[in-house]
Amino acid sequence: MKISLGADHAGFELKEKVKQHLLSQGISVDDQGTTSPDSVDYPDFAHLVGEQVVQHRADRGILVCGTGIGMSIAANKIPGVRAANARTEADAQLSREHNDANVLTLGGRVLDEATALKIIDVWLKTSFLGGRHQRRVEKISDLERTEVAK
Ligand code: RB5
Repeated sequence: MKISLGADHAGFELKEKVKQHLLSQGISVDDQGTTSPDSVDYPDFAHLVGEQVVQHRADRGILVCGTGIGMSIAANKIPGVRAANARTEADAQLSREHNDANVLTLGGRVLDEATALKIIDVWLKTSFLGGRHQRRVEKISDLERTEVAK
């Protein structure tokens, strides 16, 4: 599995921890930055990581900003991205089982490292349940198509 990673300045420190955590488990990492705690704009990194996922250059993406909220708003503008902001392991599990989330967003200012890494572990190992959830995810794709065509 290959994970595309991105963060702004508020998520930089946690992103570096996440990178080490993934590498230590033998997971490939595509680090799209940022590369320092200097101030940057989170939509730029949401764009980079979202593109890696929808172009199938990475299996999934993880984005970190201060809250995870800005990253999820920005990443969800990219057709094909289903980004979920998780504060708990239950959020992470359900975002995979029900929403087939392909991008996880985390808040470096609102999560401690241990919680963030547990959320990631759950998110990576949980599969989409399909069935009635497949129909709903397809309706999200339909929404994207109709809105883009307007
Ligand atoms: C940056 O100060 C902060 O606004 C950003 O990291 C994020 O939390 C936005 O949602």
